Amino acid sequence: MSEDVKKGLLGIVVDETTISQVMPDINSLTYRGYAVQDLCEKCSFEEVAYLILNKELPNKSQLKKFKKELDVNRSITINLREIVKHMPKRAHPMDVARTVVSVMGLEDKDTSNNSPQANMRKAIRIFAKTPTAMAAFFRTRKGKKVIPPKKGLGFSENFFYMCFGKLPNKEIIKAFDISLILYAEHSFNVSTFTARTITSSLSDIHSAITGAIGSLKGPLHGGANEEVMNMMNKIKKPENAFTWINNALDKKEVVMGFGHRVYKKGDSRVPTMEKYFKKISKIKNDKKFNKIYDIVKKVMMDKKDIHPNVDYPTGPMYHLMGFDTDFFTPIFVLSRITGWSAHIMEQHAANKLIRPLSKYSGEKHRKVMLLNQR
Ligand code: CMC
Repeated sequence: MSEDVKKGLLGIVVDETTISQVMPDINSLTYRGYAVQDLCEKCSFEEVAYLILNKELPNKSQLKKFKKELDVNRSITINLREIVKHMPKRAHPMDVARTVVSVMGLEDKDTSNNSPQANMRKAIRIFAKTPTAMAAFFRTRKGKKVIPPKKGLGFSENFFYMCFGKLPNKEIIKAFDISLILYAEHSFNVSTFTARTITSSLSDIHSAITGAIGSLKGPLHGGANEEVMNMMNKIKKPENAFTWINNALDKKEVVMGFGHRVYKKGDSRVPTMEKYFKKISKIKNDKKFNKIYDIVKKVMMDKKDIHPNVDYPTGPMYHLMGFDTDFFTPIFVLSRITGWSAHIMEQHAANKLIRPLSKYSGEKHRKVMLLNQR
């Protein structure tokens, strides 16, 4: 490979952003200048969502207004509910998420309006409605009745309520909320870059988020939390974990939930998420996943010096909370809609068409032979 080709855009800075900063040398991640750990400790997910979208943390009345706006926008149309009902039960929920955002684009009265005000209105509608549509699929594919959103419940509470028909204890809601805060934004990752690339042709927010969901689905990105759970299920019990992971490494397999393009000395989100996974494991009296978690992590660190990323603790945590494995990445979507929307608005505000170059390595100039001569 020629040296001037930067495969995977490794190390290339393509634009400026004011939304988040990843500082791998000091294991830090900030949203609009606030450390995520500080946000996790002092704020709800709604406050962080507001911060990402509006650049500042809300005061009490701004938060009240924002929550009201979410409440007003949570319902989905009968048309979308019917579409969700008729989706194949075996469809992957990430494909459903991609499709429901696309359908929302057909229904939104502002679709073709890319003004900052219209983009904010659309961002809030996508953010508020996507959990409702996904919870509807969570239930309809099990043959259960759809539960509409309930006014006055918070973002996380509402999602549990619409999926399960009841609320879990407050510590579970808190851990879920923390996971949404940590998943909300992460600079120029694959899906965000996809959203910005789509936006750069002056396309609309629904198209950009639809594309971003397709990008997040892959196991090297958001799909990893699902693959972590599949791995733990293959390991089956703690007694198998040490041999299983050593065999995987001997076979040079990629172990999901480990490694990161930017963080090479540990993902800044993991200590907080791990603490909450351990709490949930205790609440649920889990004797299995907690131990498998520790054994696999120790081998990866001792043998390869590869650290876990945020998808490693969220996978088993969402499982213990009762979510189906293929719903883990859609939960990531519900949160990342905030980061994507902020990036789409930032791209629109100072746009330059994203159009990189490639180095041609195919056949040299050839002459076309007529069909009967080939
Ligand atoms: N398991 C085993 N080996 C690994 C892993 C892993 N998870 N990650 C990196 N390595 C090895 C890799 O094989 C390579 O070894 P060698 O130098 O011998 O070829 C070395 O570490 C450097 O890795 P790399 O592939 O150059 O790193 P990258 O920056 O291109 O890839 C990554 C980053 C995230 C794609 C990769 O670490 C990976 O595939 N991890 C598993 C998938 C995963 O957990 N993704 C979630 C990412 S973070 C959250 C999110 O975005 O959702």
